[in-house]
Amino acid sequence: MLRKLNSVVKDLILVSRIAYIIYPFRKLLLFLYNLSELTVWINRNKRNTGSNDFFRLTRNYHERLNGFAFIADKYQLENKPVSYFEFGVASGVSFEWWLQHAKHADSKFFGFDTFEGLPEDWGLFFKKGAMAHDMKAIADERHHFVKGIFQDTMRNFVNENRAILHLDQRKVLLFDADLFSSTIYVLTQLYPYLRTGDVLIFDEFNVPSHEFYAMKIFQDCFYVKLRPVSAINNFYQTAFEIEKI
Ligand SMILES: C[S@@+](CC[C@H](N)C(=O)[O-])C[C@H]1O[C@@H](n2cnc3c(N)ncnc32)[C@H](O)[C@@H]1O
Repeated sequence: MLRKLNSVVKDLILVSRIAYIIYPFRKLLLFLYNLSELTVWINRNKRNTGSNDFFRLTRNYHERLNGFAFIADKYQLENKPVSYFEFGVASGVSFEWWLQHAKHADSKFFGFDTFEGLPEDWGLFFKKGAMAHDMKAIADERHHFVKGIFQDTMRNFVNENRAILHLDQRKVLLFDADLFSSTIYVLTQLYPYLRTGDVLIFDEFNVPSHEFYAMKIFQDCFYVKLRPVSAINNFYQTAFEIEKI
């Protein structure tokens, strides 16, 4: 009996030593796990994603605007009302693009951002506070900006303003906050309001441990079916239509 207990204790010590050896590499291991998931995902979806430039050698970030144009055209958002939500507005390039192209008078546009930059580091090069921009003054009265960390502002804003959000019309959501934490937070909080036919656009989709990981967890845990409809820059910018929710 004593010998058995002794061997169990030894095993436990060994396991905890292994855990400590692995600990410094946990982010790398998670990255490799997500990279393999992403690679398989892209291989499975490269043929059934309608508009898609995979594979190309160089990335042209500005071509994401072609992706927006494809979505606007596919869903006729030029003249049909849409509720547009953008998570990560910064200087407002993408936000203004949508204001200018979705012209229907009943379209509504909501932009969320700290306007003080990222709330945490994103990878090695973008530190907390990077991408800080003043909230831009835009004349178009169909828009509204919400300043602050999503985790502080979003839930109350949505609860208190449902009447002006027009959640019953088609929604287009642009996820451009880059971070896993920000993206998973928004996806899970908005889950009750999402409907079949809504469009989700990820601006940095093929970054393995951030937007891709958030989409994967959301899809797997909420049993949501997302159909990729367009991809630009080797899936860097990827748009999905909600097929089942
Ligand atoms: C890549 S920039 C957005 C670029 C913008 N959509 C464009 O195309 O010009 C990312 C933005 O996300 C914001 N952001 C990230 N996580 C956030 C969070 N949890 N709450 C509020 N803002 C956040 C940052 O402040 C930053 O301005």
